[in-house]
Amino acid sequence: MTAEAGLPEYQLVGIPGDGVGPDVVTAAKRVLAAVGARFGFGIAWQEIEVGGAGIDAYGMPIRPEDLAACAASDAVLLGAVGGPKWDDPAAAVRPEQALFAMRGGLGLFANLRPVSVHPALVAASPLRPELLDGVDMLIVRELTGGLYFGDRGEPAGAIGARAAHDLLPYSEPEVARVVRLAFELARGRRKRLTSVDKANVLATSRLWRTVVHEIAAEYPDVALDDRLVDACAMQIVRSPASFDVLVTENLFGDILSDEASVLAGSLGMLPSASVGARRTAHGLHGLYEPIHGSAPDIAGHDVANPIGTVLSAAMLLRWSLGQSDAAEAVERAVSVALDAGFRTIDLWPRDPAAAEACTRVGTVGMADAIVARIGTEATQLAGIRP
Ligand code: IPM
Ligand code: MN
Repeated sequence: MTAEAGLPEYQLVGIPGDGVGPDVVTAAKRVLAAVGARFGFGIAWQEIEVGGAGIDAYGMPIRPEDLAACAASDAVLLGAVGGPKWDDPAAAVRPEQALFAMRGGLGLFANLRPVSVHPALVAASPLRPELLDGVDMLIVRELTGGLYFGDRGEPAGAIGARAAHDLLPYSEPEVARVVRLAFELARGRRKRLTSVDKANVLATSRLWRTVVHEIAAEYPDVALDDRLVDACAMQIVRSPASFDVLVTENLFGDILSDEASVLAGSLGMLPSASVGARRTAHGLHGLYEPIHGSAPDIAGHDVANPIGTVLSAAMLLRWSLGQSDAAEAVERAVSVALDAGFRTIDLWPRDPAAAEACTRVGTVGMADAIVARIGTEATQLAGIRP
């Protein structure tokens, strides 16, 4: 509780990270402060240096005490990690190792990546507008198993005969827990679940499919179908509106979620939540981050789109803090700011006529536009779901 006001105060860890990470995290923190003031809660931030910033400061992508700080918090908000400065493939320490340490170390086995298309951004997508009508999918990616965490053998041997390998292991409990979560999420949405695998080739996919069908018996109200990953990749661009919830293993989820992000018009729009089984006093413990990378070429220039991070903060409010009204207020404020024509450069319409109705803003300007629309009457009214 904050001493003065007697309001709840949440303990969050902020990880600006690398590249545009600090720009977008600063923007999202402002939005969280504004929504906290409106809904009556405070946030105590602990900021830590992770990724390339961690390598520069401490010689390692994340220190054990920083991982412990994440574990002790109510939730973690991350900008981005990585960049050319630390990109030597032969390097023993890489910024991305921090992500794997957090995902594995905090038990964040499910990565939720919602993809929807704001009507004002339909023109920003390379897909035909009629294909985008009704797109509202949630990709649930397994995050702590498979190729990312299996044994590997780095390239070795004589030049001309070098070999390497990566193992793809999955156990039944690892499959079951993420699949069960996906069924639960589908139950709260349009009750359709697509399980994505490569069961015609991979043993782990055959295990995956067997476990999915066994669990399906517990969810007779959810319509389940299986898709092979190659066919699914095609369907995501051919009929994206046909999906509700997708669930898939780690690498397939990585690839399909980047593909699906094209639907939203810009990678800069999309949020994500990584959660596991652990609960705090307020909700699920989790790590929230935009889907986009560190974009070092535009870092610090006040051009990065902060919406992916702002919407990640909304997911944090909903899943980790139990503040669903505040989450909705943030999402509505983003939507209303887009309706009002505010656009970062990645969202700028190609059509000059459409551009005339828009206002070009940077990272700070977009945050201003969102903050100004938090808790306004229009936002409150529009935020009430039918
Ligand atoms: C993601 C990213 C990471 C991944 C990279 C940076 C290691 O692409 O979160 O999707 O592959 O998981
Ligand atoms: Mn990825």
